[in-house]
Amino acid sequence: MNQSFAKAGPAGPVLGIETSCDETGVAVFDPARGLLAHTLYSQIRMHADYGGVVPELASRDHVRKLLPLVRETLGRAGLGVADLGGVAYTAGPGLVGALLVGATAARALAWALERPAIGVHHMEGHLLAPLLEAEPPAPPFVALLVSGGHSMLIQVDAIGRYALLGDTLDDAAGEAFDKTAKLMGLPYPGGPALARLAEQGRPERFRFARPMTDRPGLDFSFSGLKTQVLLAWQASDRSEQTRADVARAFEEAIVETLVVKCRRALAQTGVRTLIVAGGVGANRRLREQLAAAGAQEGFRTYFPRLEFCTDNGAMIALAGALRLQAGQVESAQIRVRPRWDLASLPPLEPAAATA
Ligand code: KG4
Ligand code: ZN
Repeated sequence: MNQSFAKAGPAGPVLGIETSCDETGVAVFDPARGLLAHTLYSQIRMHADYGGVVPELASRDHVRKLLPLVRETLGRAGLGVADLGGVAYTAGPGLVGALLVGATAARALAWALERPAIGVHHMEGHLLAPLLEAEPPAPPFVALLVSGGHSMLIQVDAIGRYALLGDTLDDAAGEAFDKTAKLMGLPYPGGPALARLAEQGRPERFRFARPMTDRPGLDFSFSGLKTQVLLAWQASDRSEQTRADVARAFEEAIVETLVVKCRRALAQTGVRTLIVAGGVGANRRLREQLAAAGAQEGFRTYFPRLEFCTDNGAMIALAGALRLQAGQVESAQIRVRPRWDLASLPPLEPAAATA
């Protein structure tokens, strides 16, 4: 529940729809009452046979699952469609066919109900997910966004004012987890399985580099780490214990690299609040290490609950509700953006109001 989002505005409960990749997520967020309901359908088992997401299959499955999920979510919230004040949907970045399913359904529903609809940036959704929790942080903060497609450090001066501090030069953190898991024979999507395996790994048997921590700057590079793991794995006895030991060393390398860069970003900006979001934000070691670094250095770290780290409709409903409340509406044109620069978004409030 989050009273602090309530403003005099037209919104009312906002339906959020997420279909950018392989998860169909639907939620209802009410600015006055908080999150009322959310549902998620994951396509992971369908894509597992192919070792990765098949875009055409993803689109078709969103078509099958979206409307039943919308009905179920409204039912759980105790609402009918006519109670909605607006509709929010992920407009990008993501798979174009998958995005179009959510965008078309959302726009059609909003049109039929004569309510406003808004296309949400998927990464803004992730970034705002910690605000779904009790006692949400207020800007300014630094955000670490670590998902399957992105590894970014962002300075957030106000909601909607995003400046990129650092980005990955190659693989995203989640992608590095998934690819490393695959090369050690774990089934798709390997990231969470690799993290579970790492729990059984012994420390210090292997040690991998902490890429780009030895030079200034806030960019990341994870593809070399993957190669180091491959070489160590191929040269090993490939036993179960070795696999766990390698997984542990890999996780430690990624987590320490992320922690070093977060500390650096906070020092550079003078900001004392860190928020972490995206699928890799579910990683237990990362959560522990960032909380420990914060306790040591006097910054506070906020995470979404685990289910809102990975893709979900709640973060889209929240981001959309905030923008609709700020009066941001769009024409009824159905438009998605498979590529979309986060820093190009309009701020929620005019500059003078946030200065
Ligand atoms: O945010 P997300 O659901 O989708 C994207 O927008 O990409 O993130 C999915 C990514 C995958 O790469 C997955 O392997 C990773 O998050 N992930 C994890 C964990 N849970 C999910 N990586 C490390 N540890 C975890 N516990
Ligand atoms: Zn995502």
